[in-house]
Amino acid sequence: MTITYRPAKPDDLPEVVAIRALASSEVKTRYGFEVQKKQENFSPGSFYAFTIDKEPEGFWIAEENNKIMGMAIRWVRDSFWFLSYLFVAPRYQERNVGRRLLEIVLHEGTPPSVDNRGVITYAYNAASIGLYMAGGMYARESLYRMTGQSALIESRPRPEHSLDCEKLGPGPETIDRLASIDARTLGFPRRLHHEYLLQRQDGACYAFKEGRDTAAYGYVWSNGQIGPLGALSTSAFLGALQTAFSLAATNAEEVSIMVPGSNDLAARVALGYRFRVHEPYVLMSSKPFGDWQCYLLHSPPLL
Ligand SMILES: CC(C)(COP(=O)(O)OP(=O)(O)OC[C@H]1O[C@@H](n2cnc3c(N)ncnc32)[C@H](O)[C@@H]1OP(=O)(O)O)[C@@H](O)C(=O)NCCC(=O)NCCS
Repeated sequence: MTITYRPAKPDDLPEVVAIRALASSEVKTRYGFEVQKKQENFSPGSFYAFTIDKEPEGFWIAEENNKIMGMAIRWVRDSFWFLSYLFVAPRYQERNVGRRLLEIVLHEGTPPSVDNRGVITYAYNAASIGLYMAGGMYARESLYRMTGQSALIESRPRPEHSLDCEKLGPGPETIDRLASIDARTLGFPRRLHHEYLLQRQDGACYAFKEGRDTAAYGYVWSNGQIGPLGALSTSAFLGALQTAFSLAATNAEEVSIMVPGSNDLAARVALGYRFRVHEPYVLMSSKPFGDWQCYLLHSPPLL
């Protein structure tokens, strides 16, 4: 049977989400990690739908006999290329489908100005790590998802490093402010990411101030998750993080972060609140980038 590779269509999205959930739970179970019990269903406000609307050239499907076998999504911001998703349904794995999808999204519609490529994958998945190494991306940073109890954060006195903060509305001015911090922290602006994150109803973005200047930004979500959070200096990072912990703790019973492994400031604050490490990931890229002392991630697909 011939395998077809084609751009994704809006009608594919429910099946794409089901394949991602299946492939992800299979690999987690195989390596003994916890699988989310809540079933993941397609929602029209999801990043998949946003991508098909705004960057369809980066979203590809592999299909055989009218059945979707796997999918890949990449985004490009300035000269930085990033693989958000690469998932092949377990029954179709090890048939070169993942490798072919990766080749397609590496090249199709990718501007010649791209000079760095990155991806985040499970730190225990030999197949994906090997595939990305063969694609010229190498391990640069360990990442850990950590969670802690809000009650413990709230029971402590207000930390001395807290910063004043201001809730930001959507719009071009906000996006410019956030993009200028990303350009310093990550090395590239991410206007489209912020357009997506700011229109979501389940969280808020804050500017954290040192004097009158915005020194950091951070998103706090209604499920207690913090991130992305980016800062112009380590002192601003610490202040923004402490303040974001307090904000997140009022929203939900549990607070969660995705922390770069080399970020000792974030690790110390989180462990001070008795956070636990849940799952290790690895950030791979063709060249080093990012000031990981000043950044907390949103998620593997969005960085
Ligand atoms: C990772 C994944 C997408 C790979 O897709 P796939 O279709 O099974 O993989 P392919 O058959 O195309 O790729 C095989 C290639 O992977 C690499 N590979 C696989 N196992 C490897 C290992 N143990 N060491 C080194 N490289 C390995 C090789 O480059 C191999 O190519 P080769 O056999 O020609 O040398 C798929 O296994 C998957 O969906 N896994 C679960 C979800 C996941 O981890 N996704 C990545 C999240 S970012």
